[in-house]
Amino acid sequence: MTEFTLPKWYDLHTHFRQGDVLGSYIKSHLDMGCAGALAMPNTKPPTAVVFESDESGNAWSIERYMRDLQSAGGSAFEQLIVPLYLTKETTPEMIIAGAKSGILKACKYYPPHGTTGAEFGAPLSEYVSSGVLAAMEEVGVVLCVHGEEHNLAGDRYFDLDVNAETIFYSERLPQVVKKFPKLKIVCEHITTKAAVDFVRSNDDYIAATITPQHLLYTIGDLIKGLKYHLFCLPVLKYCKDREALLSAVIDPSNTQFFAGTDSAPHIAANKATECGCAAGCFTGGVAPQLYVQAFEIAGMDMSQSGSQDIFKRFLCSNGADFYGLPVSGESFSLIREDSKVEILKTSDGDVMPLPVGLGCNILPWNIKV
Ligand code: DOR
Ligand code: ZN
Repeated sequence: MTEFTLPKWYDLHTHFRQGDVLGSYIKSHLDMGCAGALAMPNTKPPTAVVFESDESGNAWSIERYMRDLQSAGGSAFEQLIVPLYLTKETTPEMIIAGAKSGILKACKYYPPHGTTGAEFGAPLSEYVSSGVLAAMEEVGVVLCVHGEEHNLAGDRYFDLDVNAETIFYSERLPQVVKKFPKLKIVCEHITTKAAVDFVRSNDDYIAATITPQHLLYTIGDLIKGLKYHLFCLPVLKYCKDREALLSAVIDPSNTQFFAGTDSAPHIAANKATECGCAAGCFTGGVAPQLYVQAFEIAGMDMSQSGSQDIFKRFLCSNGADFYGLPVSGESFSLIREDSKVEILKTSDGDVMPLPVGLGCNILPWNIKV
């Protein structure tokens, strides 16, 4: 039986939400060997100022959200980053002061109304004209992008040769990179071959996170039976896209692609409603097991130390290197044996980890932390 040990890993894109449920979601991350996380700021209200003294009814601060996370169990993480939610109120002065204090490491671009909790985002061009991106480039704050063009009609939003993500990475982001060549950018939860190619074209300042679901599934898996637990944004794409993602992560020279689960819990009662379906797949507790399963599906023999090294780079060190974090000194193990996945009970209701939502509660890999 194959068993191998890895440094604890960082989930460089996740959602812990807020309120009483925080503790449950943080625990599910600690239970899967996670040593640190980048916790998304699409809270209600959005985490859109750095300092508590600047808070208003419309914006939480990174200081406050970080404290809430820490007191709900997050103090057990070695690293915790909360990016600033970019809104039309964001100023270059906020970026400079935040970076100087050491609290601000990253900012998050949400395409206006493009996904869950994205209604406070402004178009990317506004952060160009306001000087926000220039300030970020100057002080080395990372831009985390939800890379989808906003406000598209259905036929451009998702079609065979174009979709919101391909448009964003072929038309929108290249202009920003040209203007701010030293701005560090993480292309988050990428789903297309076009995005993989874009990331590969600039290996100094650009990197990307990839989720377990985008490595394991395609749009066909979502449509067959309308499995809404597989609905997240950006939506799953085609086989050629998934193949490009898999080949990026198993490439022995990969330094740019790393783990960011986009684990996004929605309680069962909210996941599917009469007027649509909440976007987000919950992978708390199971992400390393799903990632290693994807490596196997891509043809890697995980009993070999060479394959384990490539996996280690994707899960534990590429992301740490990009964000300037030390690789964790603690470890956890993955074991090639069946394991059972449980529904997560929270004070708000049940949350289905992805495989359970797809009618499967046995995984081929187990974890020991
Ligand atoms: O599927 C998603 N869910 N994509 C996002 O960008 C947001 C997330 C959420 O917060 O539920
Ligand atoms: Zn997300």
